[in-house]
Amino acid sequence: MFYVKKMSPEDFKFAVRLTDTKGWKFIEEDFQFMKELEPEGCFVLFEDSERIGIVTSINFGEIGWLGNLIVKEKYRRRGAGAMLARQVIAYLTSKNVETVGLYAYMDIIPFYEKIGFKYDSDFTVLEGKAFASQVGTNLIEARREDYQKIVEFDSYYFGASRKKLLEAILRNASNLCYLAVEDGRILGYVMTKVYEGIAEIGPLVCQSGRSDIAIDLIRSIFNRLESFEVSFCILRKEEAILNFLKKSGIDERFHVARMFFRPTSLKECTYIAESLERG
Ligand SMILES: CC(C)(COP(=O)(O)OP(=O)(O)OC[C@H]1O[C@@H](n2cnc3c(N)ncnc32)[C@H](O)[C@@H]1OP(=O)(O)O)[C@@H](O)C(=O)NCCC(=O)NCCS
Repeated sequence: MFYVKKMSPEDFKFAVRLTDTKGWKFIEEDFQFMKELEPEGCFVLFEDSERIGIVTSINFGEIGWLGNLIVKEKYRRRGAGAMLARQVIAYLTSKNVETVGLYAYMDIIPFYEKIGFKYDSDFTVLEGKAFASQVGTNLIEARREDYQKIVEFDSYYFGASRKKLLEAILRNASNLCYLAVEDGRILGYVMTKVYEGIAEIGPLVCQSGRSDIAIDLIRSIFNRLESFEVSFCILRKEEAILNFLKKSGIDERFHVARMFFRPTSLKECTYIAESLERG
């Protein structure tokens, strides 16, 4: 019999071992971070006393996000994955979210469709080495007094306030955040989580049709992280940005589909995900 429990610190080792089987490169601190962000929204599935799967979630108010859904291989195709996904939908619905989003590997789309998620758009995950280059526009590094404006700008496009996540990223002094500002108005921003020699770019949100600004934001991050291994997940239709990156050896690794459980009020914009597990 399967049953679900809230994830606790004793489960982090299992979560890392299980996600290692798919090469997701997590460490225990990543699950600690997810649990701090959403203490009641991360779950472990058991059969008898054996841990067999996990899922995480985050509640942003109007929107919630489902991530890290994985079941031990020998227990698949017995309803375990669907049970974990439904657990997250029930949890986020109890918190009054209007919809739940996720990024699905292309071959897993039919699984999520059976649960009720609908395809929204294609994203591509890129990886490569950051390189230095000239930045055209005047960009500024975000200061403490900019944080509120960044959160408001982000929530206008995302359709919900990601304050708790964005502030947690900004609190870590290793991370980076740049803004493009014109006449006191934000036109776009980028954040980057920086680790030892590697960095995950995102979120990036920028006014639609201003890929020049988005490219400059990416350049400003690359200039700070020259020869770091960088990765990020961007809308596949952003041809100008993808061409700029490909010419410089940043390659597409795989594609994912953004899916939502119910319709969403996301606004058209240039968008790099914060992460696959949190939107
Ligand atoms: C995706 C995953 C969690 C599904 O778990 P699972 O326990 O096998 O799923 P379930 O048994 O609950 O499947 C529910 C339904 O979806 C179907 N299904 C499951 N995996 C599917 C797949 N890859 N493609 C199409 N349908 C699938 C099942 O046949 C079942 O259909 P039914 O209700 O008609 O019988 C599991 O395959 C997994 O851990 N994969 C590796 C990690 C991963 O890719 N996670 C998703 C990240 S986006």
